[in-house]
Amino acid sequence: MNIVNKISELRLALDECRGRGCSIGLVPTMGALHEGHASLVRRSVAENDVTVVSVFLNPTQFNDPKDLERYPRTLEADCELLEACGADIVFAPGVEEVYPEPDTRCFSYPPTDSVMEGAMRPGHFNGVCQIVSKLFSYVEPDKAYFGEKDYQQIAVIRRMVADLGFGLEIVPCPVIRQADGLAMSSRNTLLSDEERQTAANIYRVLNESRTLGLSVQQTHDYVVKEIDAIPMLEVQYFNIVDGDTLADVSSWDEAQSIVGCITVFCGEKPIRLIDHIRYK
Ligand code: PAJ
Repeated sequence: MNIVNKISELRLALDECRGRGCSIGLVPTMGALHEGHASLVRRSVAENDVTVVSVFLNPTQFNDPKDLERYPRTLEADCELLEACGADIVFAPGVEEVYPEPDTRCFSYPPTDSVMEGAMRPGHFNGVCQIVSKLFSYVEPDKAYFGEKDYQQIAVIRRMVADLGFGLEIVPCPVIRQADGLAMSSRNTLLSDEERQTAANIYRVLNESRTLGLSVQQTHDYVVKEIDAIPMLEVQYFNIVDGDTLADVSSWDEAQSIVGCITVFCGEKPIRLIDHIRYK
């Protein structure tokens, strides 16, 4: 496995691969890797000749400096996991390599990027589009792998790819969960044992809500009431939306695919946990 820090080294390595006619898969990450990330890397390794994994804690997508400060940084362990998954190239640049100048580009894809996480974390998806568009330009992958854990992120990136005409395929990958249902996340390590156990209720309630035969509004109210009733958990938002546009729906017939997207504050710090459930 080749670990590179410079864009020029990355390009050189990839030109050599392309010269041999290899297909290239890209898995963008911010490090602190776990089984969720590993599942994306394994899929890319299975589907491409060469897999590039970027490990870059992108400052422009953090609207809360405290969140960025306490984000776990574990590059050495990350490289061990990536080697075991069969990654070929790790691209781990410094901030000045990616942003020699402040990035002043503005991306705007409403309603996809303006609702939910976009509304709660102003500038977040702009930062995501800034870094992902740069990575796509450096790597020019055939396929890029993203987890459905960040459901809205995939929807926004799809809009950006269509807008900028990147000739690549976005491959959405299923959420990897702990045995009790909690979606794996780098932020889970910031939870105490008790918070960690309580957090499993989020997916339990979401799952339950699919089985009750309620209307959209009733489903919404049920999920919010049940989760808010659990000590240490507080729903920030729960939106039941069109799975493609992310616009709110008010009936189950309104869209072909319908997804419930939730963000919950957990514990004292608090830690924000996101999850979603597919209704249709
Ligand atoms: P990060 O949070 O490190 O996640 C990297 C990729 O791993 C994302 O596509 C995310 O959806 C996926 N992932 C995380 N947890 C997962 C899980 N439990 N199951 C399946 N996939 C999971 O998302 C980002 O980084 C950044 O916004 C990035 C796209 C790298 C841009 O900076």
